Amino acid sequence: MSQEASEGIVGALLPPEELSRNAYVKSMGEYRDLYRRSLDDPDGFWAEVAEQQLDWYRRWHTVLSWDPERKEARWFEGGVLNAAYNCLDRHLAAGRGERIAIHWDPDEPGEGRTLTYRQLHEEVCRFANVLRKYGVGKGDRVCIYLPMIPELPIAMLACARIGAVHVVVFGGFSSGALRDRILDSGSRTLVCCDAGRRCGKVIPLMRNADWALRDCPGVQNVFVVRRAGVAVEMKEGRDHWWDEELAAEDIEGDCPPEEMNAEDPLFILYTASSTGRPVGVLHTTGGYLVQASITHRWVFDVHDEDVWWCAADVGWVTGHSYLVYGPLVNGSSQVMFEGVATYPHPDRFWQICEKYRVSVLYTAPTVIRSLMKHGDKWTTTCDLSSLRVLGTVGEPVSPDVWLWYRNNIGGGRCPVLDTWWQTETGGILIAPLAGATPTKPGSSGFPFPGVVPVILRQDRTEADVDESGFLCIKQPWPGMMRTIYGNHKLFVETYYSLFPDAYLTGDGCRVDADGYYWLQGRVDNVINASGFRIGACEVESALAGHQFVSEAAVVGMPHAVKGQGIYAFVILKGEYEKLDSDEVRTDLLRYVGNRIGPIARPDVIQLAAALPRTRSGKVMRGILRNIAEGKTDRLADRETLADPGVVEQLIAGSKELLDKG
Ligand code: WTA
Repeated sequence: MSQEASEGIVGALLPPEELSRNAYVKSMGEYRDLYRRSLDDPDGFWAEVAEQQLDWYRRWHTVLSWDPERKEARWFEGGVLNAAYNCLDRHLAAGRGERIAIHWDPDEPGEGRTLTYRQLHEEVCRFANVLRKYGVGKGDRVCIYLPMIPELPIAMLACARIGAVHVVVFGGFSSGALRDRILDSGSRTLVCCDAGRRCGKVIPLMRNADWALRDCPGVQNVFVVRRAGVAVEMKEGRDHWWDEELAAEDIEGDCPPEEMNAEDPLFILYTASSTGRPVGVLHTTGGYLVQASITHRWVFDVHDEDVWWCAADVGWVTGHSYLVYGPLVNGSSQVMFEGVATYPHPDRFWQICEKYRVSVLYTAPTVIRSLMKHGDKWTTTCDLSSLRVLGTVGEPVSPDVWLWYRNNIGGGRCPVLDTWWQTETGGILIAPLAGATPTKPGSSGFPFPGVVPVILRQDRTEADVDESGFLCIKQPWPGMMRTIYGNHKLFVETYYSLFPDAYLTGDGCRVDADGYYWLQGRVDNVINASGFRIGACEVESALAGHQFVSEAAVVGMPHAVKGQGIYAFVILKGEYEKLDSDEVRTDLLRYVGNRIGPIARPDVIQLAAALPRTRSGKVMRGILRNIAEGKTDRLADRETLADPGVVEQLIAGSKELLDKG
């Protein structure tokens, strides 16, 4: 690696000159000016961005009103717009209808599907009309449980078009997780498919949905997309085939968009929280669209000639912001991929890059690590010369992974942008800008304009340079979540109780002397396994629901490919202690998989006699975390334990398990 010095930053890699020359933001000087302006005059700055990025039926009267007591932010109040109009209609009006919106590549390599903006518009309008026909309207929640097929963004945009609030549930979640989300959101409509396809296998989504719906009598209509062509049982009156509904004679190919206020809800997306059950993160229309689209434009420097590919699943926020709303607002051409990076071979991603001449690729460190494992030879089989910018998201990226990505995939010429954000933030908050920021391997660079992060110590004072602390955000930003659906009190408690004046991200972070941010992972009870957020409490309560289990405690552990794995300490009820431990483990794994989904299955289950507790009876998670991380030589606070012998036993048990592999 050549080390270059830039604008006084030593050891950072400069963006290629040509990229900078044509970039929206061309240099650190320009970035600093933008950033300063965004703090000196936030209203002026965000008004300009909102005007540039979106078409409004009516302009806002107030850019931001913020109630610091109630933690209520309102952006672009008085403004009226429609998200689907901004993603579709205005591109048609500008003569860009024949531009390709989505190249869809299926699980099995072969014929995909291509949708121009005009075709996408028509499908969205048709499904929007179907929803209207069945009585779905403004404010109604619609749950969407689909794999990575074009009908997923189509269904989302159809909701947005008529003002319904979409609740997308990741296709990898189980029927139980789906049921909980349908009930919590009060969805009365579900969109699903017969079955999904993944690595050549059939995933029975309709069957899961059927199970979930046994406990959801409120769901009146289910629209079923045909994807895998498997036989499913359709319930008369409730279940309708998507294709038949769209082709019905009374369904037109145009549908007038609903005029929405900037603060009307756009979607709810459930995510793991530090305490208890997953929470429904609520995003509204105007601010969210501004954040998603301007970050997509400026961070990755996406232009008309680019082919964008965000390889994340739309079931997670990355797909919402950078497969659906960001790129479509910007009128980009993009790739949507149904399958996984290693199927049928570990060069599948690179074949896709070659096939569609992808120029900007956005994926997760866990995917890169899984490909690294298969060896460099798989990166040399395809022509990757179309790539110009690479991005990562979802978890900390270590310098070796960052450099492998840059050198083996980017040919040493593409900047690697490590972007930090969360479901709650709506869009990227900390990241290098492709044409401006010299990058340091493993760092997320600088805050996006308008974003004011702060690193705090437990005692609420600010950390020094290079000192790790809690990453918090001081000022409101347009894409911030507005509330936890149905529970504003929990929203305030979760995000604003440790530090009353700053939003708590749950991540640890430090800032170096050059002002670069270095993210260090979650410092709470959220586990980030393969970039998927899983609440430790959620896995604990799933385990505790099993008939053998008396108690469970779950923590994260280091994992070579997933970043973090899930480590569960389980205490069995007395009468089951004698059972064969391998059989118990297998049963528990299956049980958690069924309750939440395969992604939540623990990597290690340690059957133990007791958990370490303080004298007041609190489980000492710090100790469990150290055991799971193998840091057993420094279990300092053993004195405060009620029974120190417990820890010795746990350490011995853990060693035995991990040695066994
Ligand atoms: C983690 C995904 C380090 C972090 C967009 C955060 C990251 C959680 C990065 C949010 C990054 C995301 N470096 N950690 N570049 N990006 N994270 O809600 O712990 O699924 O809190 O949103 O992922 O995950 P979520």
